[in-house]
Amino acid sequence: MADNKIESVLKEHRVFEPPRQFVEDAAIKPADVEALYSAAEADHEGFWADQARKHLDWHQDFSTTLDDTNAPFFKWFTDGKINVSYNCLDRHLSAKADKTAIIFEADDGNVEHISYADLHARVCRFANALKAQGLAKGDRAVIYLPNVPEATVAMLACARIGAIHSVVFGGFSAPSLRDRIDDAEAKMLITADGNYRGGKLIPLKEVADKALSEGCESIESVVVLKRSGADVEMRDGRDIWWHDVVDGQPADCEPEWVDAEHPLFILYTSGSTGKPKGIQHASAGYLLGAVTTCRWVFDLGDDDVFWCTADVGWITGHTYITYGPTACGATQVMFEGVPTYPEPDRFWKMVDTHQVTIFYTAPTAIRALMKHGDEYPQRHALDSLRVLGTVGEPINPEAWMWYRQVIGKERCPIVDTWWQTETGAHMITPIASYTPTTPGSVTHALPGIEADILDESGERVTDAGAGGVLVIKKPWPYMLRTIWGDPDRYKETYFGMYDAHTYVAGDSAQRDEKGYFRILGRIDDVVNVSGHRLGTMEVESALVAHEAVAEAAVVSRPHDVKGEAIVAFIILKDGEGDEQLASDLRNWVSEQLGAIAKPEEIRFADGLPKTRSGKIMRRLLRTVARGDEVTQDVSTLENPQILDQLQAKGT
Ligand code: PRX
Repeated sequence: MADNKIESVLKEHRVFEPPRQFVEDAAIKPADVEALYSAAEADHEGFWADQARKHLDWHQDFSTTLDDTNAPFFKWFTDGKINVSYNCLDRHLSAKADKTAIIFEADDGNVEHISYADLHARVCRFANALKAQGLAKGDRAVIYLPNVPEATVAMLACARIGAIHSVVFGGFSAPSLRDRIDDAEAKMLITADGNYRGGKLIPLKEVADKALSEGCESIESVVVLKRSGADVEMRDGRDIWWHDVVDGQPADCEPEWVDAEHPLFILYTSGSTGKPKGIQHASAGYLLGAVTTCRWVFDLGDDDVFWCTADVGWITGHTYITYGPTACGATQVMFEGVPTYPEPDRFWKMVDTHQVTIFYTAPTAIRALMKHGDEYPQRHALDSLRVLGTVGEPINPEAWMWYRQVIGKERCPIVDTWWQTETGAHMITPIASYTPTTPGSVTHALPGIEADILDESGERVTDAGAGGVLVIKKPWPYMLRTIWGDPDRYKETYFGMYDAHTYVAGDSAQRDEKGYFRILGRIDDVVNVSGHRLGTMEVESALVAHEAVAEAAVVSRPHDVKGEAIVAFIILKDGEGDEQLASDLRNWVSEQLGAIAKPEEIRFADGLPKTRSGKIMRRLLRTVARGDEVTQDVSTLENPQILDQLQAKGT
């Protein structure tokens, strides 16, 4: 985040109480929230045991709530047996079979309503098809689909048979897809012929074929959804159409009752090193977080129409599309397209059409839509809305206020929700009916979540305005369980800084005078572009894989829509860089990793600023990329003359 933006957040003192009418109508009242906090404080484990029995349907009750004998490898509700898809579908059928589960709006505006009975039948049919294809409990299936109901069906079908899904966002490139398939040793790939987003064809099967042509030996079958109608190659003996695999399958499938700790999914996310981490979540604990946070934070109830604009390829889509709303038996909107197509009022038009009551999006979308001007939201009434949420990156007070005034008409509480792929669901966030909010502040931790800020020696940082390392001091049910295939990396990354009970989030934070948390940014080499996490090392490895590049260093600089943008400093093997090469390198990164990783700017130089021990001085590069004056001590620099050159080369 830019220093000037931090400044503006620090000076922010406005406080907005939850509107009285909202509190009166809310399902969860302030007294209920107080009771949750006291119960959690009095008995952390007992609190979570009560919540698990209240919000989830168990096939077999658990007798151990938390097993921390092998910390930080925590286990929750260990001897309980459960099925996640049963909790998302079957348990609603007696009262809500005809209730709409998903209102799907396609890119072209086509709308489909799917009831709970219908969703249940589709999931069962697909689950039976997966079994018929040889997928069994514990096997991994990679899902590379557009944001369409079949993605949710595929995820819930895996959960139904105890298979572990790993969804790969449809914007990821062939090499990224291949790496994830290989790391998970997936037996099956579920993809589509392609789809349209913003009117543009996304050739998923073509990308998948490329991935499969260079590795992916573990893949035995590829199920292909017909979505775009594009001509695709179907490999004999490997590729099979979705409509063919489900043909003739019964609309009922007995759920596989799995242990509470059985892995539900793996989702890859970026870390400090080049290799993405397979974040592994457990069945019961994860689902519990999805349900409690929907209920508490959003006040999600039976009459709501919930809309999370994320893609199922990200953790936000996992928790707040596939699992949370369905486990609550709610109605939700799912959208295949983009906010600006065919016009920048698409979101607002959809809010009116579907009478959305709870709307959850990312600051980058808010900033982009705000730039298009107020006339677009003003074309629509937006009077069904009652809660607004944001996620994924810090929101600047200006965008927060616009969201409140122009979209929420000062009537809707804003919940700025801090959490991560690893945390599974919301951690630090306002509760809509309870928490007075302040622009740019994620306010306080939820009941049962012990967030704190520590200094490097492990002392608590309590002074208002002082920054430190954001930690969670007690295990919680919906935390990640490990990194797939790499328990040492899990231990080292998240519990290596203090002790085996103190989870280090990788963010720095501070408190304001009210004790509210503000997130300042990452403390590792991770950047956040449009709410998406990217490791700078991943981008660097992609760049040095290009034949012209000898060395690369990647940093971020603030961007008024994307939050952060990538700047890459490049040393060529020989010759001077020019605009053509810069453009080639940007496209190269896009092909290697996906469009979200495309650098905003490429700067060529003869060398990188390094310490005498050979370490690249990234802080210095960040200053240069931002165009700020260099005030750091450069006396340890081995090659000080490089500094002038780097500064001069700005384009
Ligand atoms: O830096 C924090 C930022 O996003 C990171 C987590 O990214 P990811 O695992 O991709 O999950 C994003 C969706 C949950 C965090 O470490 N972040 C997330 N939410 C916020 C945030 N930063 C500030 N405010 C938020 N509300």
